[in-house]
Amino acid sequence: MKMKDLKPVIEKNRSYRRFDFARKIPADFLVDLVDAARMSQSAANLQPLSYMTVAEEEMVAKVHKHMRWAGYLADWSGPVDAERPVAYIVVLGNTQVKQTYRDVDAGLAMQNMCICAAAEGLGSCIIANIDRAALVELLEIPEQFEVLYALAFGYPVEKVRLVPFAGDVKYYRDSEQNHFVPKRLLKDVLIKQV
Ligand SMILES: Cc1cc2nc3c(=O)[nH]c(=O)nc-3n(C[C@H](O)[C@H](O)[C@H](O)COP(=O)(O)O)c2cc1C
Repeated sequence: MKMKDLKPVIEKNRSYRRFDFARKIPADFLVDLVDAARMSQSAANLQPLSYMTVAEEEMVAKVHKHMRWAGYLADWSGPVDAERPVAYIVVLGNTQVKQTYRDVDAGLAMQNMCICAAAEGLGSCIIANIDRAALVELLEIPEQFEVLYALAFGYPVEKVRLVPFAGDVKYYRDSEQNHFVPKRLLKDVLIKQV
């Protein structure tokens, strides 16, 4: 694969928050995603992360209740029932492993999963705003693990487009619920070429 093939997948790999709830994802696909996460770079190769996959419909609904969506969209409290994610992967920190740059490890692992999902036409959203205590209880997460993040997955029903940054980082939606994400321009982030 060449960069010209990969970059469109990176561009497509946006945060999606509205999905087709009727289109399910096989549980095995989530296991494949965790396998991609397992292969990511890791500071000192400590590999402090573990995962739980959630594909079973009733459990997805219960997990979903503990997620908080799109803080910038004040008048939107999250997807309606027909547009909910169909699966989740919970990213856990193993407290029995030394913590060195654990958040970087988590970012890399999540990116591997999101890119793989995007390559298959799926959408994902990284979620940090979680009721962690409730999730620990619901999923009976053993004490040695901390909930770091959750990833929501499904087939997107919304269009998400990048737009040039014009003074405000807040994403927004138009009247048709298309979602726009301002990104700083290449010329503004590349501060020197020597
Ligand atoms: C570490 C991290 C935490 C995030 N937490 C949430 C969250 O709790 N809820 C949410 O709706 N989106 C969350 N997002 C998604 C961001 O809002 C999203 O990445 C940002 O708006 C840019 O959009 P893009 O991913 O399409 O480029 C998170 C993203 C990252 C990287």
